[in-house]
Amino acid sequence: MNDSSNLSKDEIQKIVTQKIKNNTKFLDQINQYLHNQGIEIVKRYEIVNNVLLERDATNLTCSETIEWVKNKLSLVTIEKNEIYQIVFMFFGNRHFKKQLDQFYTPMSICNFINTLLIPGKKAIDPACGTGDLLNQYMGNITLVDKSDSVLEMTKFIKRNGTATIEHKDSLKDLFDYEKQFDYCVMNPPFGTKTIETNIDVLNKYELGKGKEKQEIGLLFVELGLRLLNKNGILFAIVPNGYLGNTKGDYIKMREMVINKYTLLGVIKLPDNAFNRSGTGVATSILIIQNKKPRKDYHIFIGDVKDIGYILNKKNTPIKYKINNEGYYEHDASLNPIVDENLSNIQKSLYKFVEKKKTHNLLFTPILSKCKYESFKKSELNANLIFDIKRYLDTFKKTVKILKKKCKTINEYCDNNANFKFTKKAGEYAYIDIKSVNTPLYKPNTYPNVTLPGRARYMVIKNDILISKLKGKISFTIITENRENLVVSNGFSVIRPKDKKSLVIIFANLFTEAFKIQHQSMVTGSIMETLSDDDIKNIYIKEDIDNDKYETILSSITILNRELITLG
Ligand SMILES: C[S@@+](CC[C@H](N)C(=O)[O-])C[C@H]1O[C@@H](n2cnc3c(N)ncnc32)[C@H](O)[C@@H]1O
Repeated sequence: MNDSSNLSKDEIQKIVTQKIKNNTKFLDQINQYLHNQGIEIVKRYEIVNNVLLERDATNLTCSETIEWVKNKLSLVTIEKNEIYQIVFMFFGNRHFKKQLDQFYTPMSICNFINTLLIPGKKAIDPACGTGDLLNQYMGNITLVDKSDSVLEMTKFIKRNGTATIEHKDSLKDLFDYEKQFDYCVMNPPFGTKTIETNIDVLNKYELGKGKEKQEIGLLFVELGLRLLNKNGILFAIVPNGYLGNTKGDYIKMREMVINKYTLLGVIKLPDNAFNRSGTGVATSILIIQNKKPRKDYHIFIGDVKDIGYILNKKNTPIKYKINNEGYYEHDASLNPIVDENLSNIQKSLYKFVEKKKTHNLLFTPILSKCKYESFKKSELNANLIFDIKRYLDTFKKTVKILKKKCKTINEYCDNNANFKFTKKAGEYAYIDIKSVNTPLYKPNTYPNVTLPGRARYMVIKNDILISKLKGKISFTIITENRENLVVSNGFSVIRPKDKKSLVIIFANLFTEAFKIQHQSMVTGSIMETLSDDDIKNIYIKEDIDNDKYETILSSITILNRELITLG
């Protein structure tokens, strides 16, 4: 432990910065050193691992070299499991001449899941890749993957515990293992193009029966549930589309979970958590127990903002906490602190497990005051949306206040309005997201033959357009009577029922409450969007500064006219 009491702030920063440098550079330096000694790559890996695992390495090199490596590793402040992964990726990439990133789940996420598993039980990962998800589990582990070449690397990994590694197609070869495991963890392959087409396999699944094809990820979720014994728990990393898409099979999967099992929790990961493995898909961890569902119960929700890595940088280096003055934060031993909130979510989940007396999940009593967020099964609507955003306190509190004194957009709309049109010969003025500079718009003209396929709605004066996509909300109001004015399906179109409603809806588009509701109800994995129904269910205030917004509306009308005349 450093005695830092006599050191200045800058001196302390120098020490902390040096430690960060050690953490970043240690493996390059060790590799270079061993290379200079003429040691070949697989042996280098063995040496580093043996030192890490505190095993004898004298059959690999001289004791002086071992001491050098030991010393270098002793300066590293990163957690040991993380070091294992860094070492494996580093040497694996070189040895197998393959980018291992595609098989990788960030270590902080693996750690998080492992801290919830009770040691000594039976666990399986049926799409194990290199087996990261269960790397630290001290129990009876089964790792299965259908890729031979991946398993070659999985075997290469040094672990504390032992695992049975099996080369199988899990979707068709694991039925003998049904109801056998206390835990199933998975980060299965997903994507609408990753599909199973083998009819024999499909017919073995509730989600595949009678179909010509099915998304592999959905089948894996069903498989994971079937592998569980009574009270067994599935941890599945799935794209957010599985939680919010309102198409048949996604809802069917959610129905299966809700009708037959108990959904313990949904933990949203940051949107770019899997950037390193080349997917920008937004994901969540579903925690589901093989337990007959009660009529109503609480479902834990967690919103992970930081997993401890700079996700938009190459190789996603560790992210360290920086204070308001621009200094690295550190602990009493002057070790830098990793910037993450997974450990807070873990604490609140412990609290939840303790309070709800959940079977089979590990927890340590949290003595400090620690809150958790949850929602009740009875709050699920007909679409059974599991996406946590609409159950978080920020959203629920806003809606609770608004509900008392406000009505939804729906009540200010002409709900009989029809925006559909059939393309005819002639010219169209087309508004898409790029033609809107909130609150103004400038359409582009197209002959009917080249009009983009996304042109879906025909609009008239005073229609309001609101973008559906998550992020910055674009909106505008049609200020002209123009023939053949059409709009992309990236917008929701609203036709106010009268002038007063027009001003009320328009004024609310500028408010924080509108933004919170819009951003909380988006669903999907890559382009998260809001449905037309959800937009109409947004609560808006009637009590607005009418004169101000009427003036703004007149100004917009004049400005839009000018812009359109300019061409
Ligand atoms: C996204 S990777 C996950 C790797 C690992 N679980 C992790 O999180 O680091 C998905 C893995 O599933 C494997 N896989 C795909 N289809 C499979 C199947 N039908 N049976 C077994 N493994 C499969 C792939 O080979 C790949 O290693």
